[in-house]
Amino acid sequence: MRRKKQKPEEIAARKDNFSRRDFLKGASVAVSGGLLVTEAQAAPKAPGAEAVAGPGRVAISLRINGKAQKVNVEPRVTLLDALRDYLDITGAKKVCDRGVCGACTVLVDDASVRACLMLAVQADGRRVETIEGVASPDGTLHPIQEALSRHHGLQCGYCTPGVVMTLVELQRECSNDPIDEHDVRRALSGNLCRCTGYQGIVEAALAVLPKPLDQSRDMIPTSCAPLR
Ligand code: FES
Ligand code: FES
Repeated sequence: MRRKKQKPEEIAARKDNFSRRDFLKGASVAVSGGLLVTEAQAAPKAPGAEAVAGPGRVAISLRINGKAQKVNVEPRVTLLDALRDYLDITGAKKVCDRGVCGACTVLVDDASVRACLMLAVQADGRRVETIEGVASPDGTLHPIQEALSRHHGLQCGYCTPGVVMTLVELQRECSNDPIDEHDVRRALSGNLCRCTGYQGIVEAALAVLPKPLDQSRDMIPTSCAPLR
């Protein structure tokens, strides 16, 4: 059944809440004891009868960009490191490695998460989408990628995978709801870009996402207008 649509501000709040709370909860267990009760293993059991993972490597299964993948990781390994160092899926970038910049953003079961703040074992059995899975198999760029290119929404490109995943989530969650500039900037508030000044990114998003009926996108002041 389709999930209830959420407003952009609800998406942003959920993203922050999930990332920090869930990571701290999982990491404190992993670090203090070297052991972890994974989500899949966390079904109600008799007290003291929880199955634990670790401290050595544990086998987890992920569905990454539609493909089933198995990997053996220690419970302390983040989802970002599992993707980059164990599976050679390097599109999500490690920049701050502490949940600040958003460069590592991926979707887990359709919700954006900072992969540096999620343990790989917490993603066991779940769907993970990365920037590598956004374009079509024939190489055709996703409309958001195409728009970012057209509107000069990237320079060094280091923030771009995270930006794209955030906008893909926004597009899905608000597929028929009008999106305005405020919504886009709010959704992107967790993605730091050091190069562009954001104007091109916002213009690209507004060119693709449903626009309010009473507002023309051309009203957005711009120093790098869309190429026509
Ligand atoms: S690398 Fe994950 S938020 Fe910066
Ligand atoms: S394009 Fe360089 S950090 Fe955003």
